[in-house]
Amino acid sequence: MPSLTLRFSFSGFPRSRCCSTPTPKLSSFTSFQTEVNFRSIMDRLTSAARLMIVSDLDHTMVDHHDPENLSLLRFNALWEANYRENSLLVFSTGRSPTLYKELRKEKPMLTPDITIMSVGTEITYGNSMEPDDGWEAFLNDKWDRKIVTEETSKFPELTLQSETEQRPHKVSFYVQKDKAQDITGTLSKRLEERGLDVKIIYSGGMDLDILPQGAGKGQALAYLLKKLKSEGKLPNNTLACGDSGNDAELFSIPDVYGVMVANAQEELLQWRAANAKDSPKVIHATERCAAGIIQAIGHFNLGPNTSPRDVTDMSDCKMENFVPAYEVVKFYLFFEKWRRGEIENSDLHLSNLKAVCRPSGTFVHPSGVEKYLEDCINTLRTCHGDKQGKQFRIWVDLVLPTQVGSDSWLVSFKKWELCGEERQCCITTVLLSSKNVTVADGLTWTHVHQTWLQGAAASDSATWFF
Ligand code: GLC
Ligand code: MG
Repeated sequence: MPSLTLRFSFSGFPRSRCCSTPTPKLSSFTSFQTEVNFRSIMDRLTSAARLMIVSDLDHTMVDHHDPENLSLLRFNALWEANYRENSLLVFSTGRSPTLYKELRKEKPMLTPDITIMSVGTEITYGNSMEPDDGWEAFLNDKWDRKIVTEETSKFPELTLQSETEQRPHKVSFYVQKDKAQDITGTLSKRLEERGLDVKIIYSGGMDLDILPQGAGKGQALAYLLKKLKSEGKLPNNTLACGDSGNDAELFSIPDVYGVMVANAQEELLQWRAANAKDSPKVIHATERCAAGIIQAIGHFNLGPNTSPRDVTDMSDCKMENFVPAYEVVKFYLFFEKWRRGEIENSDLHLSNLKAVCRPSGTFVHPSGVEKYLEDCINTLRTCHGDKQGKQFRIWVDLVLPTQVGSDSWLVSFKKWELCGEERQCCITTVLLSSKNVTVADGLTWTHVHQTWLQGAAASDSATWFF
């Protein structure tokens, strides 16, 4: 496909304009609730984020050709162990909130700090996804979706996408590759004649989105960067990740690193050839999807780039400092491998585990039963290899440590288990301390407490160990 997205989505969006494009006054429309959610993200960061990852989902963070979701799980472990506490995860997707939530149910995805949906027309904060009303109000400029609907109805080649994908600032169609360029040109002129200023984006060789000129993934990112800067928390590094036409804009925002994953679409690679060919800040990874993101973290030297999932002997990986989040990730990876029968059923593993538990340490099972941690470790014998040959995965999300004493941390997180089609989750808190221990890496699990996440409890709670 020739430079379709270029001509139309970027003719009104030259590089230099990206950040000088008028963005709304940051607080003018922002509701109280949006402010609260944005604030809680800001409060978590004691200083500027070490890294902000802004990633597309379909075929970038999520590999639809990998039923095991391995690269996504590798990324998850890396993020939670090394970045979650002091960095920002932003998902930027073409999907509407409805389809985004469906994807989250289907795939082992982390919870992002910020979610940008509907091709940069909707921005929400936190787990509760509070919308940024200021951003949406700004998009009304020279936009009238009724006129867009009227004009597009004159093109029989355009097939309207599902109702869920039609949003206040996004009208979306399917169109054949060979017709897309002509239609985009004509439509663009007609809408201009009717007083609108729109951006038409072609993605994935089939999707055609019509948005207000000020919208799009790039503009939404520029807006966020501006908002963070006004808080004095401009991220130290930002990495944009994408695979298709609607991601192109992400790669023209100044001072942002970019990775086009190995499996990037033709239209995005053509955009790169025309616009960012010699830019050392944008790479075309050799790895697919989330593995390409990990590759880019390494390539640009943005921080740790070895996923704990890729470390075969976890007892080997001693950190320079005691990192509570890393300990949690490491334990659950051990537990997954134990149940998949990928590590040897030896007493040595169990005694190593016991060595890092306080003898009187307790575990409150989500059913409400309280046990000694040591007893729980003894029962692990019964589940070694019980998930062998099955699709069984464990991942942790939102691993957030709080230092509660000079040498103790309360780590809270969501612990997910996937077995076949079934998914279970416990909100978990762990009290870790580094006091009075003899083990070389110096930590003790003192207390573990779990509560079922609403709607994600196991039907048989006896199959839930930790
Ligand atoms: C997602 C959206 C769709 C959009 C496409 C490209 O698939 O669901 O509406 O056209 O992304 O942006
Ligand atoms: Mg994509």
